[in-house]
Amino acid sequence: MEGCIYKDQNAPIEDRLKDLLSRMTLEEKLGQITQIERSVAPPSVVKNLSIGSLLSVGGSGPFENATSADWAEMVDTYQKAALESRLGIPLLYGTDAVHGNNNVYGATIFPHNVGLGATRDEDLVRRIGEATAIEVRASGMNYTFAPCVAVCRDPRWGRCYESFGEDTVLVRKMASIISGLQGQPPPGHTKGYPFLDRRNNVVACAKHFVGDGGTEAGLNEGNALLSYEELERTHMAPYIDCLSQGVCTIMASYSSWNDVPLHASQFLLTQVLKEKLGFKGFIISDSEGLDRLSKPHGSNYRQSVLTAINAGIDMVMVPFRYQLFLEDLSYLVESGQIAMSRIDDAVERILRVKFVAGLFEYPLADKSLIHTVGCKLHRDLAREAVRKSLVLLKNGKAPNKSLLPLNKNAKRILVAGTHADDLGYQCGGWTSTWEGKSGRITVGKTILDAVKETVGDETEVIFDQNPSSHFLSTQDFSFAIVAIGEPPYVESGGDNPVLDIPLNGAEIVKSIAEKVPTLVVLLSGRPLVLEPWLLEKADAFIAAWLPGSEGGGIADMIFGDYEFQGRLSMTWFKKVEQLPMAAGNDLYDPLFPIGFGLTLKGLMVLD
Ligand code: GLC
Repeated sequence: MEGCIYKDQNAPIEDRLKDLLSRMTLEEKLGQITQIERSVAPPSVVKNLSIGSLLSVGGSGPFENATSADWAEMVDTYQKAALESRLGIPLLYGTDAVHGNNNVYGATIFPHNVGLGATRDEDLVRRIGEATAIEVRASGMNYTFAPCVAVCRDPRWGRCYESFGEDTVLVRKMASIISGLQGQPPPGHTKGYPFLDRRNNVVACAKHFVGDGGTEAGLNEGNALLSYEELERTHMAPYIDCLSQGVCTIMASYSSWNDVPLHASQFLLTQVLKEKLGFKGFIISDSEGLDRLSKPHGSNYRQSVLTAINAGIDMVMVPFRYQLFLEDLSYLVESGQIAMSRIDDAVERILRVKFVAGLFEYPLADKSLIHTVGCKLHRDLAREAVRKSLVLLKNGKAPNKSLLPLNKNAKRILVAGTHADDLGYQCGGWTSTWEGKSGRITVGKTILDAVKETVGDETEVIFDQNPSSHFLSTQDFSFAIVAIGEPPYVESGGDNPVLDIPLNGAEIVKSIAEKVPTLVVLLSGRPLVLEPWLLEKADAFIAAWLPGSEGGGIADMIFGDYEFQGRLSMTWFKKVEQLPMAAGNDLYDPLFPIGFGLTLKGLMVLD
């Protein structure tokens, strides 16, 4: 097929995709609509079925602690198989790189979005997108299921930390990460048309369309009971910014709007997103999003396929039972229940993204990028993000009695708490594995590592996760740094109606603060209940969110090398009984309002 238009990189993209579409069989078209998990996809299946996309779900890599080079080798194997298919259509290989290339050992792990929202720094977030894209491409992958542009209206939601915050305007600003991930579109770029700049950018995915952060009681995959105006104003607005940046893909939400599952909503997916807003990339389902359309889960699957494809889903993240999916989809097309025009629309959108992304020209991993993974430049960027994300809630029990900045040359320092020396806790969910886990899970610096690096040679640093009162009464410390918070969680596993500080964190603070001037550093994916006595006993209190691999950013702030600038991206409630409570609600009686943040001198950080 030499000389055919679709292989001519100088031909207009719309001509290339129409030429290629005209050459495809029905089986090849249906293969392009299919995204499967790597663990069920031998290269022969990728080649023979002309599969459009593979993904690695959280933790699904070549082997434990595989490096970027190992990933690149694995991904290239699949890509070469795709290139050997009859028409040689390259794969999109997707991963949840939601705070760095977090599946890959040694990658830079940035703060999760709830902390990035506290920075209010859209250029910083764009630069994080750029760095993340390079590290993803270094691993051979070319697609990330990020950013989550949910507007989290209730911290009981298990995915609160994946949101940039509760305020729509703030989330809209932080959508700038897309220009980092995909590159900056030129002036005059057509809103809604996919864009991707260079070989070290990746296809992005704004998610989860729409209203995932607005469900009743913050239930994950729940139901958002809202007027269309409220849905549009609060939850849909960030997608306008994603479209204007040329976002290539958008993921449908598991959740429902007024009892209609998003995966089944022809109104929202097709009439609103595609026709009214002009989205020309492709809509991807969430993982087993079709299975969730039927009760019990996965029953009557053929009906779910019919409903979702006709609603406007273009690519299906199956991701395991792909034979059943293809069998049902073929039947539905051949029986005329799904029109060929719907299939052609979906395939056109998928091919458009692949041509825009330059995959036909640069399908394989760029080995020259390997040295960027976890490089100093990226870790310094992550450290800057940590610094700017920390929110100072209290500094001193009385005016002019501030605890911070701490003295780097103090005689003896106690570092304590469940989160003081645990990189896994520092990173949270979506790190190394889907749920995340405790321990030295990747390359990085814990708070304890960073404190030891920062203090003077004469300063003695003592670490004890949960010191006994006997120990405390026999020791003399200048001050204590006590890091507590939430263990990692993900999706529905993080839904929490009580929001107490887990792992006995408050009690650890209580025993220490009675004897030693104490700084509390709270590592959590959201605001938690702070008992009045806890705030009272702490001499200083910092919300550090889920800072990622660069604990040095915390040391930078507590020892005064930088001024605090972080401001809450979520309202800090007093009691869970107040929830949902966000700025703008009639009854707004927070412990700390959204936007709160102190400087070292105790003044409010100004916008
Ligand atoms: C998950 C999440 C989605 C993620 C996808 C692939 O269930 O809902 O955010 O991108 O599956 O891992």
